[in-house]
Amino acid sequence: LAIADPPYPPAIYRERTVPRASRWYGQNQQSATDRPADAHPDAAEWDDPARHRALMAELTDTYDGWALATPPDGLEVYRPLPPGAHVAVWVKLNSIPGPARIRSCWEAVIVYPARRSSRGIGVVPDVLVCGQGGRFAGAKPARWTRWILAMMGHDPTDTVADLFPGSGEVTAELNQGRLL
Ligand SMILES: C[S@@+](CC[C@H](N)C(=O)[O-])C[C@H]1O[C@@H](n2cnc3c(N)ncnc32)[C@H](O)[C@@H]1O
Repeated sequence: LAIADPPYPPAIYRERTVPRASRWYGQNQQSATDRPADAHPDAAEWDDPARHRALMAELTDTYDGWALATPPDGLEVYRPLPPGAHVAVWVKLNSIPGPARIRSCWEAVIVYPARRSSRGIGVVPDVLVCGQGGRFAGAKPARWTRWILAMMGHDPTDTVADLFPGSGEVTAELNQGRLL
């Protein structure tokens, strides 16, 4: 299985497009107050919507199941989704306010569950309501990782790749031993 939490695709407004990958993880800050979470030399590749679609195709070709996090407007970049993919919603009421009048308080997760029976696993809601913590922009709380695993149909024999570790929160949760 794989968990992919890449930098966000660009934000598209009426008059302009604002890069978010190179802004928050590269060297393309948009104002003096921008504080990148970390720095990756190839962050700018994620400012190209085609790179996101290529990632989704790679995930489908390589893994039995995967989950890919993106903001609400990022869903447009990934559509059409592969048959069997499901859009789930993480509601984070303490999301960081931005300059826009409408404050985005949720993030989408495209889930492509592993093809296996749900018997014995139980039913998993496609909405998680929990706060976002930590100082790293984009860090995921432990509950998020457990929710993603449950939706993917994770079983203890699976290996799970955390493709964009960032703060390390997701990997730490995967490694702590008791996942479900
Ligand atoms: C949304 S964050 C991941 C957050 C992580 N899930 C967590 O819980 O902290 C995206 C990460 O991708 C990294 N990144 C940026 N460009 C990349 C690239 N070309 N290849 C791999 N990782 C990249 C960023 O530096 C950042 O650490």
